[in-house]
Amino acid sequence: MLDILILAAGKGTRMCSDLPKVLHPIGGKALVQHVADTARKVGGEQLLIIVGHGAEKVEEKMAAPDVKFILQAQQLGTGHAVQQALPNLRNDATVLILYGDVPLTKAETLQKLIAKVSDSQMGLLTVNMQNPSGYGRIVRDANNNVIAIVEHKDASDDQKKINEINTGIMAVKAKHLQKWLPQLSNKNAQGEYYLTDIIAIAKADDIAIQVEQPDAVEEVEGINNRQQQAALERFLQQQKANDLMVAGVTLLDPSRIDIRGNLTCGRDVVIDVNCVFQGEIVLGDGVVIEPNCVIINSKIGNGSQIKAFSHIEESTLQNNCDIGPYARLRPGTQLADDVKIGNFVETKKAVIAKGSKVNHLSYIGDAIIGSKVNVGAGTITCNYDGVNKFKTEIGDNAFIGSNSALVAPVKIAANSTVGAGSVITKNTEENDLAIARSQQRNIKGWERPTKK
Ligand code: UD1
Ligand code: CA
Repeated sequence: MLDILILAAGKGTRMCSDLPKVLHPIGGKALVQHVADTARKVGGEQLLIIVGHGAEKVEEKMAAPDVKFILQAQQLGTGHAVQQALPNLRNDATVLILYGDVPLTKAETLQKLIAKVSDSQMGLLTVNMQNPSGYGRIVRDANNNVIAIVEHKDASDDQKKINEINTGIMAVKAKHLQKWLPQLSNKNAQGEYYLTDIIAIAKADDIAIQVEQPDAVEEVEGINNRQQQAALERFLQQQKANDLMVAGVTLLDPSRIDIRGNLTCGRDVVIDVNCVFQGEIVLGDGVVIEPNCVIINSKIGNGSQIKAFSHIEESTLQNNCDIGPYARLRPGTQLADDVKIGNFVETKKAVIAKGSKVNHLSYIGDAIIGSKVNVGAGTITCNYDGVNKFKTEIGDNAFIGSNSALVAPVKIAANSTVGAGSVITKNTEENDLAIARSQQRNIKGWERPTKK
């Protein structure tokens, strides 16, 4: 029986931010969201989040059917925070205590910690740090048994030399918490009710403190300021890059990729430098992403190539598409196989069928384009009259001459042709040539002006 508690009521003063600390992101996801996701992997029947500072914002962000929020109206310390949850803890349960600002702990590490808990034992996650300054120190007796945690601000000079620190994460029987927490006092350097004081109380109660340690120190690093946030962001990105390479993706420089969400890749995908992936992205087999692309919530089919400096958002591309350089695919772009979108082309809610091309300098919005269509350079779908949006439809095999304005609503029939520079306001029929531009006049023998 497992209850999981996430402490997320603190202010995070050192972030210097209006946003509650636990809502700041790494890898595009709020810190406390990382913690909650890990908690779900560990399992447990109850997920309780202690909120206080910025409670409304935290609750809004974290609301889920399996989450219960507990308000700690005044933040009187970590012990006080856990105390607020006591009425919700089931007496026979093991309680896993996590911190909302420690985002990268692995579920396996926590499983090992939980395994140490029994009626006569509790589990404490510690780590050895080169520079332990600021952290609570683990005090052991001559037999190397843990007997107490002393906070940095309360530590003697000798205790400050201890390198083993408290990560804050622990697992303990609920009934022990019920017994120990009321005994806490706030007579210490910070005037707070320290959760860490339960270690000495446990010792006095003959409950053994079993220590577990994580594989990497980053797993238990907390974020208190922007530097620490940036450092853990780098660590997380490095991990994600490693995972991709292990799965067979070529990253031309694993230190120059940012994945803010989930990137799923097929076989033999190649990603060049400085690309940012946001949300849920799926790349098919053999996809090549050239440098400096931003790809958000999109799916790109096998063999497609995204050339440098392209921006793709909420779009679906089938196989062998050829995009960019400098293309912008906005939400609702759906490209069938073999579609080509060239430089300085913007698409939005554009459904384009197999083999069509929009190669240069165009805006294609609210449009349905058939197969094998050629949209000439500089073509604009005029989809907006300042109030409402209208649709442009272009049939299979149509040819749109350069620099045409297609004033929607309008339908260009299959196999019809639009002459360059036309402003098209009327539908065409199959095989028509539509030309809507002023006639050219040639004036014979015209003499150029001369300098006066
Ligand atoms: C705490 C530990 C310290 C440990 C360090 C690891 C205590 C007394 N100290 O110190 O031993 O080395 O974490 O990072 O526990 N919170 C609440 N309500 C409160 C106070 C805090 O919910 O009243 C939450 C915060 O939002 C945060 C977590 O508890 O998520 C830790 O609080 P913080 O003030 O950062 O504790 P530290 O001083 O870092
Ligand atoms: Ca902290």
